[in-house]
Amino acid sequence: MTGNYVTTRPLASRIAIHEYGTNPVPWYAWVHGLLAPYAGPVLEVGAGTGALWSGVEHPPLVLTDGSPAMCATLRTAVPDAAVARAGADRLPFADGVFGTALANHVLYHVADPATALAELRRVLRPGGRVAVATNGAGHMAEASELAVSIGLPPVDVHEHFPAEAAPAALALAFDDVVSRRYEDTLVVTDAGAVVAYVASLADRPLTRDEEDAVAAPVSAAIARDGAFRIGKHAVLVTAVRAG
Ligand SMILES: C[S@@+](CC[C@H](N)C(=O)[O-])C[C@H]1O[C@@H](n2cnc3c(N)ncnc32)[C@H](O)[C@@H]1O
Repeated sequence: MTGNYVTTRPLASRIAIHEYGTNPVPWYAWVHGLLAPYAGPVLEVGAGTGALWSGVEHPPLVLTDGSPAMCATLRTAVPDAAVARAGADRLPFADGVFGTALANHVLYHVADPATALAELRRVLRPGGRVAVATNGAGHMAEASELAVSIGLPPVDVHEHFPAEAAPAALALAFDDVVSRRYEDTLVVTDAGAVVAYVASLADRPLTRDEEDAVAAPVSAAIARDGAFRIGKHAVLVTAVRAG
């Protein structure tokens, strides 16, 4: 767990910039479109702020997260779900109890993704489905360059479990592995949204000079081209526990 999830605000800022996406089907709706109807009960590990389930009808739902702040938010955001604080690599559930298990943009945070995948397999019943979202090369590259320009680390959250390696990792524990890419480009018309995104990557508030340094090239692009464009590379990998 990084300190970036001690409060829900950085994650909320990171999710907010995706409202500038140009795919007419938003990410969470796209995920539901691929997975629904769900075999229940459904487990989501690293469920964050519960954004996947906002306003969505769902079967019996169990949400976990390693962050106490995320768990507190989940209890109010998805009040009919059972919520448990747990690391994705050590799930407090019996074998074979879930019909679906999700890990959306989580496994690149886990020290040993293979252990987490083995746990997801263990808690699924035979025939149950797993779905794992992660990012690949070039994801948010233009925002990453801005972060680096003010001395922050690049947006490299996918490197620990990249889209390019995820299917092979799942194939070690599951059958019928399919990786699907979500096509999207962010067309951002508000420099403040990019500043908030870059700030969410830091474990501290940005200084005024840093905010200005991020905003200047974004504002210039908006003035010149009408928008600042950010590429995305996100995938959803699905698979089945055969036996
Ligand atoms: C990028 S957010 C994704 C949240 C949510 N799945 C979504 O798609 O909106 C990653 C989440 O994983 C949680 N997390 C990070 N490392 C974890 C771990 N080792 N075990 C469980 N949760 C973890 C964080 O607290 C955070 O809520």
